[in-house]
Amino acid sequence: MVRETSVGSDDLMLPLFVVPGSSVENEVASMPGVFQQSVDKVVETARRAAGLGIPAVLLFGIPEHKDPRGSEAWRRDGVVQNAVRAIKEAVPELCVTTDVCLCEYTDHGHCGVLSGDSVDNDETCELLVAEAVSHAEAGADLIAPSDMMDGRVDAIREGLDDKGFEEIPIMSYAAKYCSGFYGPFRDAAESAPRFGDRRSYQMDPSNSDEALLEVELDIEEGADILMVKPAMPYLDIIRRVKDEFQRPLAAYQVSGEFAMIKAAAARGWLDEPRVVAESLTAIKRAGADIIISYFALDFAKGV
Ligand code: PBG
Repeated sequence: MVRETSVGSDDLMLPLFVVPGSSVENEVASMPGVFQQSVDKVVETARRAAGLGIPAVLLFGIPEHKDPRGSEAWRRDGVVQNAVRAIKEAVPELCVTTDVCLCEYTDHGHCGVLSGDSVDNDETCELLVAEAVSHAEAGADLIAPSDMMDGRVDAIREGLDDKGFEEIPIMSYAAKYCSGFYGPFRDAAESAPRFGDRRSYQMDPSNSDEALLEVELDIEEGADILMVKPAMPYLDIIRRVKDEFQRPLAAYQVSGEFAMIKAAAARGWLDEPRVVAESLTAIKRAGADIIISYFALDFAKGV
């Protein structure tokens, strides 16, 4: 009766990785139990998630071909666009969220187009708008830009409105840190940068005030849901953002957080169900309303 925080499956969002083909299920080496799946298999997983009371999924696409501009990102029949249509048809009640970024689609692995060795912020924003609009046209319910370009929430909002998608909300990766904890994701999404790192567009882990500034800018630009990422090493940031701005807040328990728990549990060093529940509770206690987690299915099953 006096417990302050409880986590249920309805707090969770499940990330999914979509690849071309059919009947494809490739387990990600550094993320046991997480798969790259073709559209038919992704639909099955989405149906399972909905059946367990998970209200939302977050889609990442791995295209057939990558190029310097990431042009498969806004194709009408791209992997994510196809997956959105198929999931909405099979499980209409599920909130289908799409990650908007170019790193999975560019051959150099950076989150935008390059000018010399650095990312061209403004040109990238135009491409992100095209990507976001194509996701909305496919039927996405929520658009989640993760690229961290300046001004992209404003550009995407305007682009969606222009095409008649005024009611499609934006969940912005507002305070996204340049983190070593994304390592396993880059195996899953095949998106490791070929050179350099993401320090010019992601945040310095040492900074906390800056996170509030990033969040404030995204709110001004029209973000409906804010996100802090990663989650567990940044619980202080989640709390500061929630205290400062009473807005819907998501936290992303990222691939490295998942992999750490899995690896330790596989050696018998941690009790997996216990620490999964504890980590999700801590993230919610810190102030997150929505938790994006690769553990969503297992947690919801009560494993
Ligand atoms: C794309 C993106 C990344 C993640 C989500 N969206 C990778 C990155 O920024 O390198 C990481 C998620 C995870 O580690 O689970 N920009």
